[in-house]
Amino acid sequence: MREVILEANELSKTYTIGERQESVLEAVSLQVEAGEFVVISGTSGSGKTTLLSILSGLDRPSSGRVTMAGRDITELSEDELAPVRNELTGFVFQAFHLVPSLNALENVMFPAELKRDPAAKDKASTLLQKVGLWHRRHNYPQQLSGGEKQRVAICRALINTPKIIFADEPTGNLDSENSRSIIELLLELHREHNTTLVMATHSGEVAAQADRIIQLHDGRLQNGGGVG
Ligand SMILES: Nc1ncnc2c1ncn2[C@@H]1O[C@H](COP(=O)(O)OP(=O)(O)O)[C@@H](O)[C@H]1O
Ligand SMILES: [Mg+2]
Repeated sequence: MREVILEANELSKTYTIGERQESVLEAVSLQVEAGEFVVISGTSGSGKTTLLSILSGLDRPSSGRVTMAGRDITELSEDELAPVRNELTGFVFQAFHLVPSLNALENVMFPAELKRDPAAKDKASTLLQKVGLWHRRHNYPQQLSGGEKQRVAICRALINTPKIIFADEPTGNLDSENSRSIIELLLELHREHNTTLVMATHSGEVAAQADRIIQLHDGRLQNGGGVG
């Protein structure tokens, strides 16, 4: 049976800049099925980051709703939303966003420690071994290469075995060799755990591997957002 894990209804986002209202997303509706790999594609400035942030609960829409695993997250207060986000989602950013004062192992452990998981350290260690970074566990972010930082960030996104991983141009700051291994890693995890993967990218090579491509143009969907 098909399970819709993520649904957006008529999302809009408007920013007020001085006296002007700028519409960044307009009437975006979409559904993502559990286990799908969906790419959000579009030129720079088309609204990919805004959409991913709202879908993942990091940001709020100006209007419209987001339903995640059957829960309307737009209804939740920030205090209610934070644990839901931490439990159900992992986010991989273009700029890694690791905590500079924590080493690789501590960065990966962080989301599990937030929910007082006694196995946080074991899980983080297993993940770092899996991505070949066990020998770097004591390194701080500034002592890691770009590709290594992104692998740490992916481990951090995975530690609570989320149902959905959001990735915003995860290879945008990496060379082609590192990019390929990051995408391979994400796809392997997606296949292994049937994790839903929602990724913004403007790489055609990456998009070609997706189950479905959602095309954004000036904050609007170019094709239907329904399950393909
Ligand atoms: N905090 C903000 N305030 C005002 N405008 C913003 C803000 N964040 C994004 N925008 C605008 O929203 C549009 C979409 O941005 P973004 O979602 O980052 O696009 P993309 O990720 O596709 O490059 C851009 O025109 C950008 O300038
Ligand atoms: Mg962006």
